[in-house]
Amino acid sequence: MSYNLLKGKRGIIFGALDENSIAWKTAEKVHEQGGKFVLTNAPVAMRMGAIKELAEKTGAEIIPADATNIEDLENLIEKATEILGGKLDFVLHSIGMSVNVRKGKRYTDQNYDWTAKGWDVSAVSFHKTMQTLYKKDAMNEWGSIVALTYMAAQRVFPDYNDMADNKAYLESIARSFGYFFGTEKKVRVNTISQSPTPTTAGQGVKGFDGFIKYADEMSALGNATADECADYTLTLFSDLTKKVTLQNLFHDGGFSNMGVSQKVMSRFIEE
Ligand code: NAI
Repeated sequence: MSYNLLKGKRGIIFGALDENSIAWKTAEKVHEQGGKFVLTNAPVAMRMGAIKELAEKTGAEIIPADATNIEDLENLIEKATEILGGKLDFVLHSIGMSVNVRKGKRYTDQNYDWTAKGWDVSAVSFHKTMQTLYKKDAMNEWGSIVALTYMAAQRVFPDYNDMADNKAYLESIARSFGYFFGTEKKVRVNTISQSPTPTTAGQGVKGFDGFIKYADEMSALGNATADECADYTLTLFSDLTKKVTLQNLFHDGGFSNMGVSQKVMSRFIEE
C-alpha cells in the first residue's frame, strides 16, 4: 500500500541482482512510495542479472559501478544527481561477497588475497561510497544512508567465515562516518541486521538451509523476509525516522535477543 512516504525523494540503490535480492524488493517498494532512484551494480553482475527488467518496472536508469572503484563511484554520483535533478535523499548499500566463502576455504585456512578482496567489496566499499558522497556534497540535509549486515558481526556463526569480520567492519564504518555525516551534513547512517534470507549471496553460505530453519525456529516472530526488510528500509529513508542514526538495527524477528525457543528446545528433550 502506498502512503507516498518517499514522494519527492531521490536516491541510489546498489545491489539488485535478481528478483530475490533484498535491493530488488527495496527498489520496488521505494517506487511504490513515490521515490525516484538510479539503480547500480558491478558491471559483471549486470551482464548476468535481470536488472533491466527492474529498471523498466520502476522507471529507473541504470549506471554500472564497481563499488570498490572510486572513479566508478564518482561517475555514478555525478550522473545520478544529474538524472534525478538534484542532491540525494537516500542511498542503499546492499553489497556482499567473500571469495573465501565462494571457493570453500575454511575460516582457519584463509587465502589473504581473497580475504582482502571480500573486505574491500563487502565493507570498505561502504566507506568509499560515503566518502565520495561526502566530498561531492551530494546528500540533502536529513538524507538517509543504509547498509545491510548480519548478526555474525556480534555472535559466532562458524560457516559465515570471513564475512563475519567484514560485517563487523561495515557496522563500525556506519558509526564512524555517521558521526561526520550527522554533525556536518545532518545525514543519518545506519545498518540493518537482517535474518538469513534466500538470495544469491545468502545461499552461498555453507549449510544455508539448516541455518535459515534454525533461525526461523529460534525467532519469536520467525525470520524476517526480504520484502519485510525492504519495508523496514523505507521507514529509515522516510522523514519518520529523522533522529535515528549510528545504529545497527536488528530486523530478525527477535532472534538476536533469544536464548532458546521451545521449538528448538523440544528437539533436545527426550520424551
Ligand atoms: P544478492 O546476491 O542478491 O546481492 C548482493 C549484491 O552485491 C549483488 O547484486 C552483487 O552483484 C553485488 N556486488 C558484489 N560485488 C560488487 C561490487 N564490487 N560492486 C557493486 N556491487 C557488488 O544478495 P542479498 O542477500 O540481497 O545481499 C544484499 C546484502 O544483504 C548484502 O550486504 C548481504 O551481506 C546482506 N545480508 C544478506 C543476508 C542473507 O541471508 N541473504 C542476511 C543479512 C544480510
